[in-house]
Amino acid sequence: MKKISMIALTLMMGAASVFAQGWGRPPVEDPTGYKDTYKDYFTVGVAVNINNVTNPDQIALIKKNFNSITAENDMKVVSLQPREGEWNWENADKIANFCRENGIPLRGHTLCWHSQFADWMFVDDKGNEVSKEVFYERLRTHIHTVVNRYKDIVYCWDVVNEAMIDGDGRPTRFQREAPSPYRQSRHFQLCGDEFIAKAFEFAHEADPNALLFYNDYNAADPAKRDRIYDMVKKMKDAGVPIHGIGMQGHYNIYDNPKWENFEAAIQKYSELVDNIHITELDMRINHEAGGQLQFSREGAALTDEIKKMQEDRYAEMFEIMRKYKKVIKNVTFWNLGDRDSWLGARNYPLLWDENYEVKNVYYVVRDFKKNKKK
Ligand code: XIL
Repeated sequence: MKKISMIALTLMMGAASVFAQGWGRPPVEDPTGYKDTYKDYFTVGVAVNINNVTNPDQIALIKKNFNSITAENDMKVVSLQPREGEWNWENADKIANFCRENGIPLRGHTLCWHSQFADWMFVDDKGNEVSKEVFYERLRTHIHTVVNRYKDIVYCWDVVNEAMIDGDGRPTRFQREAPSPYRQSRHFQLCGDEFIAKAFEFAHEADPNALLFYNDYNAADPAKRDRIYDMVKKMKDAGVPIHGIGMQGHYNIYDNPKWENFEAAIQKYSELVDNIHITELDMRINHEAGGQLQFSREGAALTDEIKKMQEDRYAEMFEIMRKYKKVIKNVTFWNLGDRDSWLGARNYPLLWDENYEVKNVYYVVRDFKKNKKK
């Protein structure tokens, strides 16, 4: 009798545990993602490549954690229209359709940038430079075509990217005049700063509902911050439709940026705009920083000390961003896992490692409420 009831008990316990876990399924993983723990603060996004939105495991990470997506490269000018009238929609459409199917809004990136641009816009058939009117007509066609195609799913655009110069902006021993605050791009050389206003006007004509951003790196650096501020102020005073500033956020675990500069920049920009997005966040483990396309792919060894430094820096940064939730409306990581990072996997800048295994820093940022109580 005793034996029979033991057997019955064991069977009942087994059934109860199968019931709790779902028939034949592994135990249910914690479904809480960034989009949940940050829902009272800002949306959290990720820049994706085509693999990220094709591979089922990576798709699961994205759907769990993010409520904003940026195409890392596939919506840049050179990707979409490498030659006049030759449109490559395939990858951009795939990403947009992924967003449509999963109800994740898309951050458009980018309509006018000196890099990954379409240099054909500057020259005629014979290779001679065209007038700025011809350039504007081409840029307008590009912007209208792209913005119109994705206006159902894109909620904001990085209209102009990286138009300001680097450095501290002070005259040097060799150059007595202070350098121009603007990057000496082909766009600038042909049109002066007018091209910035034009790009915003074209985007606004195409989609009056989209939020339009100026986006740049080193935007917390005081000298560059002031240049960006002055440029955006000039645009706003002239009635140009510009609604937000994107601070790219290619940072490091040491001292770039200094948090007081980061905070001062947020405060200063919020005098001008209601929307600040941290558009391209990564935290590399060497001493470099910024969005310049030259960088070292070799990081340091990933010791426990370095991991802890990265966790602390991310935690400090998110604490500041939460404090400014009124104006910071989105924070986007630049890439999904370290494997995808444009900096190379040896800089370990992200939340998942090169095999998409979650890193401790993921929890440090996600579970800030629990961490605080400890
Ligand atoms: C980077 C991409 O991540 C790389 O894959 C590509 O080779 C170069 O561009 N600032 C920007 C982004 O605005 O578009 C850049 O993305 C990184 C710096």
